[in-house]
Formats: sequence, structure tokens, C-alpha cells
Amino acid sequence: MAVIPKILVFAGSMRSGAFSGKTADVAQKELAMQGAEVTRISLADYPLPILDEDLEKEKGVPDNAVKLGRLIAAHDGLLIATPEYNGSIPPLLKNTIDWVSRVRTENGPAFRPFVGKVAGLCSSSNGHFAGIRCINHLRAVLVRCQLEVVTPECSVPDGGSAFDADGNFRDERLNKSMEHLCRTLIETSHMLSTRA
Ligand SMILES: Cc1cc2nc3c(=O)[nH]c(=O)nc-3n(C[C@H](O)[C@H](O)[C@H](O)COP(=O)(O)O)c2cc1C
Repeated sequence: MAVIPKILVFAGSMRSGAFSGKTADVAQKELAMQGAEVTRISLADYPLPILDEDLEKEKGVPDNAVKLGRLIAAHDGLLIATPEYNGSIPPLLKNTIDWVSRVRTENGPAFRPFVGKVAGLCSSSNGHFAGIRCINHLRAVLVRCQLEVVTPECSVPDGGSAFDADGNFRDERLNKSMEHLCRTLIETSHMLSTRA
């Protein structure tokens, strides 16, 4: 059993000042406060071409997808903070998930980074709906990739005014939902690693 769960945190946007990046920062702090070992990354450090099966056939899965796959495999769980584009998953995040889902083998034995990992989801937007349409799509995609996605979520509306100067949520209800999400993610990571 992993005594200290290892959680990988990233946002589905690499925009400077992204609301999803700020939400991921809050999650990173909360997870660390609750005792998790947290790794925070930016998808900007893992650039990937748009997935195209001709390209995959010709050149294989890109190194950055394999690197990300190894990083995911080295953690118990993921915390993803996503923006919402046209009611769904932004292309950066979907393309990254799709590439990592193509990482299959490493020197022979089966290697499927997502399978059996636990995930917690946050969303944010500049509007009142807080990206909740996207989070439902993201949940379905990750379940399809065989992750266990925990039920609690943290969705941040009105990103332009949601954070104070220190990057904390202004609304106490958001702190409560982030606290609940992180606690459930850690507990589920423990439970799954005990079962493994
Ligand atoms: C192509 C595109 C589509 C968008 N669609 C939505 C949407 O469906 N719902 C929403 O609340 N915001 C939408 N937005 C606005 C985003 O919430 C806003 O740009 C937000 O800042 C993006 O997330 P980020 O701050 O994490 O980069 C859209 C933005 C773009 C660029």
C-alpha cells in the first residue's frame, strides 16, 4: 500500500494566467496539505502533434506522450483542472489523453499508463456555468480509458473574479468542494493501492 499517495496535477490549458492553471494551483496546495506527494506539471512541457494514425504508423507514439505515460504510471492518481471549449474538452487536453491512451508497450510487457489510476476533476470558465458541461465529457473519456474517476468535483465559475491576489478562492464554498474532492481522491488512491 502506498502510505503517501502520489498525485500528478495538471491543467488543460497552457495560457498564461489560465483559470484552470490557477485552479490546479489551489488543488496542488490542498492535496499537499492533506498529505499527498504532489507533482505539478504543465502540458506546455509535453508538446504533441495532433493525433493522426498515419503519423502514428510512420513515427510511433511521440516521446512526449511516452514520457507523460511513464510519469502517470509512477503516480497513484491524477488531478486534472480543465477549461471548457464549446461545451466540451479543449483540444490540448483531449489530444494529450488520446496520445497517452496509445502508449501500449515498453520493452515488451503490457504498459497502459491510465489503467487502474484514480482521477479527480476540476473545471473552470469565465462564465457562470463553471465548465460543468466539459467535466461530464471528460469524466466519460477517462472512464473509457479505464481510470476510476471520483464523484466529487470542483467547478469554478467566473474565473476572472474567483481568485484573490494570493491565488486562493474567494468563495468559501469552493474551498469546501476542493477539500472534499482532494480527500476523496486521496482515500480512493489508498483503497485502490491496497486492492492492487
Ligand atoms: C474556443 C473557445 C470556446 C469556448 N467555449 C466556452 C464554453 O463552452 N463555455 C464556457 O464557459 N467558456 C467557454 N470559453 C471561454 C473560456 O471559459 C475562457 O476562455 C477560459 O479562460 C479558458 O480557460 P483557461 O483560463 O483555463 O485558459 C471558450 C473559449 C474558447 C477559446
